[in-house]
Amino acid sequence: MAQKMKRRGKGAAGASPSRAKVHLRLDVNGETQEVAFAPHKTLLEVLREDLGLTGTKHGCELGECGTCTVLLDGRPQLSCLVLALECEDRPVVTVEGLARGPRPDPLQMAFAELGAAQCGYCTPGILCAAKALLDAKPQPTRQEIREALSGNLCRCTGYIKIFEAVELAARRMRDPDAKPAAEVLHGRRV
Ligand code: FES
Ligand code: FES
Repeated sequence: MAQKMKRRGKGAAGASPSRAKVHLRLDVNGETQEVAFAPHKTLLEVLREDLGLTGTKHGCELGECGTCTVLLDGRPQLSCLVLALECEDRPVVTVEGLARGPRPDPLQMAFAELGAAQCGYCTPGILCAAKALLDAKPQPTRQEIREALSGNLCRCTGYIKIFEAVELAARRMRDPDAKPAAEVLHGRRV
């Protein structure tokens, strides 16, 4: 108890504990940012509320929907489940950081071209998860794509267009002129 009291006293120096902020360096989308935020904040909250990066979406906050997915150390991470405090000097990439200069990432182009985003709420998280997959495995099978995106829920698309868009982006990374298959654009003949 005495220890608890002591810790509280320390946190209260100059400010009430609820207002105390931590100052950290975050590496977001290739830029180092000095940020001050309440220590209980998740990475999702700091990205959206303190850095203005609202591309990362806020969904269940329970680790179930995947809409808050970003890349942390190059791997997909549910940003609602990690404290921003734990991310100092670790590379974070959000959907805003996927573009290559002025050019959208091939995944973003393929999603737009094939209609893989409808309301778009799940799209930033899916793009980040797909980016991690293609970085690790440039020619994934349909099953590997399904598994990589299995933690990302989409209420609109039925997933098929999403899988096809990831496949098209993978092909475009090898051949920038690759075209979608006719059946992807027009459906299968019956
Ligand atoms: S908001 Fe993070 S998993 Fe749903
Ligand atoms: S496009 Fe609407 S939830 Fe996926």
